[in-house]
Amino acid sequence: MSERFAPGGPLRGRLTPPPDKSISHRAAIVAAMGAGETSVRGYLDAADTRSTLEAVRALGANVSEGAASTTSLDLRIRGVGLRGPQPHSLIDVGNAGTLMRILPGWLAGQAHGEWTLAGDESIAQRPVDRIVEPLRLMGADVSATDDRLPPLTVRGAELRGVEYRSPVASAQVKSCLLIAGLLARGPTSVIERRPTRDHTERMLRAAGVELSSSDAGTPVTVHGELPARRVTVEPAAALEPGEISVPGDFSSAAFFIVAALLCRGSEVRMEGVGINPGRIGLLGILTRMGAGLEVVETAAAGHEPVATIVARSGALQGTRVGGGEVPLAIDELPLVALAGCFADGETIVTGAAELRHKESDRIASVVSGLRGLGAEIEATEDGFAVAGGAGLRGGTLDSVGDHRLAMLGAIAGLASVEGVEVAGFDAARISYPGFGADLASLAGAD
Ligand code: S3P
Repeated sequence: MSERFAPGGPLRGRLTPPPDKSISHRAAIVAAMGAGETSVRGYLDAADTRSTLEAVRALGANVSEGAASTTSLDLRIRGVGLRGPQPHSLIDVGNAGTLMRILPGWLAGQAHGEWTLAGDESIAQRPVDRIVEPLRLMGADVSATDDRLPPLTVRGAELRGVEYRSPVASAQVKSCLLIAGLLARGPTSVIERRPTRDHTERMLRAAGVELSSSDAGTPVTVHGELPARRVTVEPAAALEPGEISVPGDFSSAAFFIVAALLCRGSEVRMEGVGINPGRIGLLGILTRMGAGLEVVETAAAGHEPVATIVARSGALQGTRVGGGEVPLAIDELPLVALAGCFADGETIVTGAAELRHKESDRIASVVSGLRGLGAEIEATEDGFAVAGGAGLRGGTLDSVGDHRLAMLGAIAGLASVEGVEVAGFDAARISYPGFGADLASLAGAD
C-alpha cells in the first residue's frame, strides 16, 4: 500500500502518542512471569505488541483485554509464574526483535520444555548470537541457524549466574540476561559499555526483584554521555508486578517533534510522553542543533518519568552525534538524518553500526530513501554524513517494510517541496497504527 504525503501548512495542536512499545513488550512478559494477576494500563495495540500477547498466551498466561482507545488496551494478565510456562513448540514473534531477544531469557531457565521462536522475513535476518553466546555461558541450551540467526530453539536447563560484559550496547541483550538471572544460581551482572534504556530494571524492581545498578538515577548530560554501568540481579522465587502503567512512546512522539521543527509556523504539544533517560538522546541532539523545545516533567507513569514536550519550528544547525549518545537515540537516528537535510552545515553520525541490525539495515535504507528525495547524504560503515541546507525536493520513498522508515517518509513529505509517496506505508502499523490519523489531526485536515 502506498500513500502520499504532500507539503502543507504548519502542524499545530496537542497529541498523546500511543503507548510505549518497549515497555509494552516487557509488561506482557513480566506479567506472564508473575505469580498472580497483573493489571496493565495502556498497553500498545499494534502489530508488534500483539505478537507478544499471542506469545504469552501460548505460554499459558490468561490475557483479558479491554479497549482504552484506538492504540491502547487495558489488560488483565494472569501469569503462569516464573517457573510455569507451558512447553509450546512454535512461537511466532512476527516482526518483533524485542520479543525474539527478551523472551528466551525466561524460557532458558525452565526445568522442562522446548520452544522455537521464529518470525517474518526481516526477523530472519536479525542477529541472535548476541543472546545465544551469553545464555550459553549461563548454561543454557540454545541453538540458532549458524549460531547467529533465527529460528532460535531454547531447551530448558539449569542456569548459573555470570558477570557478562556486553560487546553491544543493547537493552534487549541486557533484559534477556537479567530475566534469565532470575532463574539462575547466584547473582547475574551485566556490564554495559554504554548505558541503554532501563525499562526492564524499573519493572523488575517494582515486581519485588532484588536488582542493583551502579549509576541508578544519573541524569543524562547535554552530550548524552553516561558512564559504563553494571546491573546485578539476584535469583527470585516469584514476581509480583501488581500494576504496570505504560507511558506514551517517545520514539513515536519523535516524528511529530521533528515534523514541527521542519514545517514553518508549527507548534505541537506532545503530552504524556515517557522520558526514560535511556530514550531521550534525540532531545539533546536537537537542542544542540538549535531546536525550540520545551520539556516539562509531569506525573510519572508507574516507575517511568513522563513529560509534556513542546516543539516549535525554527532554523537548525548541523551537529555531530557519536559515543554514548548513540544508544540513547538509536531509534531516532533516521530523524536526525532528516533534520540534518534542513540544517545549515554538516550532520555526521558515527558509532552507530547497530543501525544495520534493525528492522531494515537503517544506514542503507535511510541513506537510499533520503537520497531518492534529493538529500545529499552518504553512508559510512557506522553511520552517515549529511550535507544540509537544501531541504528535500520530494519523490518516492520505499519503507522496505520498516515501520520507522514509513513514518520518516511521511514527515519528509510534509517538509519537502513536492511531497513524498511512501511505498509500503502500512508498515507503520507495527508500532503506530493511528499515525496517519494523528498526523492529519495536527495538520488540521480532519
Ligand atoms: C529496544 C532496544 C533497542 C531498540 C529497539 C527496542 C528494547 O534495540 O532499537 O527498537 O525494547 O529494548 P537494541 O537493544 O538491540 O539496541
